[in-house]
Amino acid sequence: MSLYDLIITKRTVRRFKQDPIPDEIVSRIMEAARQAPSGANIQPLKYMVIKTADMCKKVFENTGWAGYLKGEGTPKEGEQPVLYVVILVDTQIRNDGAKHDCGAAAQNMMLAAWEEGIGSCWIGSLKRDNLVNVLGIDERYVIDTVIAFGYSDEQVVSEDAKGDIKYYRDENMVHHVPKRTLAELILKSF
Ligand SMILES: Cc1cc2nc3c(=O)[nH]c(=O)nc-3n(C[C@H](O)[C@H](O)[C@H](O)COP(=O)(O)O)c2cc1C
Repeated sequence: MSLYDLIITKRTVRRFKQDPIPDEIVSRIMEAARQAPSGANIQPLKYMVIKTADMCKKVFENTGWAGYLKGEGTPKEGEQPVLYVVILVDTQIRNDGAKHDCGAAAQNMMLAAWEEGIGSCWIGSLKRDNLVNVLGIDERYVIDTVIAFGYSDEQVVSEDAKGDIKYYRDENMVHHVPKRTLAELILKSF
């Protein structure tokens, strides 16, 4: 797929096959994070990579899924992520203002994964204090977000929003993501 097609087709996935992700692909995903742009090239981000089944389970317990679906969007046993990357800000390198770095690194990782057919869900809804304990995170690091990965086992489609932007699942369990139209987004064009 072209880069453009990867960007256009990459949707948030919340149901995953249980096949493990090969280490070479995990390395490619992390290299994509490393090569992301960074304000003033300060590079304050650090990462934790979680692959083992027992640690994945512990991370999963501290993540929140698909708020609009009221519990229905939480992956069930057998469809949960098989890889997590925790994005951390190293406050000894940069104390604040790393949000844009986090966004760029996150999207790079998710696109690199999608090129391999690996879906992802970027997760901001976290029990951060629990994760600090579970992962033994030193206080110099602040958790930004977590990205969950796994081979996609879900059909997700984008569509033009007609007022409501809440995503929903239809009777066939297809996940629909309403996107505001370009006519609404582009305020002026000179
Ligand atoms: C910063 C950020 C945080 C997010 N946090 C969560 C989350 O905690 N749980 C979740 O299920 N989805 C989360 N998402 C995924 C969004 O719900 C998703 O991007 C949105 O519904 C649009 O769908 P799409 O990514 O397929 O275009 C998050 C997305 C972003 C950008």
